[in-house]
Amino acid sequence: MRVASRIGILTSGGDAPGMNAAIRAITLVGRAQGIDVVGIERGYRGLLEDAVVPLTAADVASIQREGGTILGSARCKEFHQREVRDRARRILANRAIDGLIVIGGNGSLTGACRLADAEELAGQTLSIAGVPASIDNDLGLTGLSIGVDTAMNTIVEACDKIADTATAHDRTFIVEVMGRDCGYLAMTSAIAVGADLTLFPEADKSEAEIVEQIVDTVLAVRGRSRRPRRVIIIKAEGVSIAADRLKTAVDTRLGDKVPEAELSGIETRVTVLGHVVRGGRPSAFDRLLGSRLGNVAVRTLLGGISHKMAAWMPAVELSPDVGFRSPVDPYCWLVEISAALAETDRLLEGKTALARWRAGAFDAIHDTLLL
Ligand code: F6P
Repeated sequence: MRVASRIGILTSGGDAPGMNAAIRAITLVGRAQGIDVVGIERGYRGLLEDAVVPLTAADVASIQREGGTILGSARCKEFHQREVRDRARRILANRAIDGLIVIGGNGSLTGACRLADAEELAGQTLSIAGVPASIDNDLGLTGLSIGVDTAMNTIVEACDKIADTATAHDRTFIVEVMGRDCGYLAMTSAIAVGADLTLFPEADKSEAEIVEQIVDTVLAVRGRSRRPRRVIIIKAEGVSIAADRLKTAVDTRLGDKVPEAELSGIETRVTVLGHVVRGGRPSAFDRLLGSRLGNVAVRTLLGGISHKMAAWMPAVELSPDVGFRSPVDPYCWLVEISAALAETDRLLEGKTALARWRAGAFDAIHDTLLL
């Protein structure tokens, strides 16, 4: 057991609101414990460019209020190459950084594991800790990742606004939300918004089935005797049909099913929220989550423990070799990063009990609350 003496913080992959709160907590807690803390700019790409900056209490004052990440972020495909990782390790050694906390998602934590692989390290000392951050909530063994709550609030606010126009004009809106291959953001925000239909990749429906689902929903809502007759459909970006193409297919199918005289009153519009979902000031919850996970991660390294991800209330039973409750925060767990990554793969393939529960519970809630 070796306690890190100089800790580097790196944010990588898609930025997520709340990352700054984690940076702040790690810096303040690390410094209070007498450890030197530095920032590495622009993720693994910045590491390869030796972009290391000091982080003092003054540098992180009030940053928990800001979206994005003060360190910058990047995606770095070259990191898959062994010689590139060797270069990164040499830079860390030259900088006397023997502890690294990676704040990010799936790809970022995979990079951390490769960087600190015992065989590749060949005797170099490097402890790592992970902090889950991704608006997609697609990481295994953590109930939530940093950024999810803010993204959900952003979607709900946008959809509430869209609903005003949809209601006034009795229109149908297909609203596409981020989430990569994971339908979590679409499912949860649909419940909060009161959407009429939600399209998520886990449902594994064909294009024809999806078009039919939308058309059936539109006709059911328009068949109501009273207004409003608006339709809000939340589509996860992981449903691979482009929103515009979906609109065209829906309009064509409605043309087949609805008499021409009634068709002019039926309008379908598309709004792709895109990166709007990822930005903005972090919610109070994401500030707290970032602070708590950052606190647990840095204290883990200071306790001489490596290769753990600070997780927020995992929704599955964990055997002691996979994870255990953090001694410093009863809501947080310390899970093997490699186990979290393996669970992420299975989650995205829909193979875990949690993946099945999410889709099933969502269907049940949807049928009860929204229809
Ligand atoms: O992983 C976060 C995320 O915002 C996904 O929801 C989205 O698919 C992807 O990143 C977009 O990545 P980029 O900003 O690199 O286009």
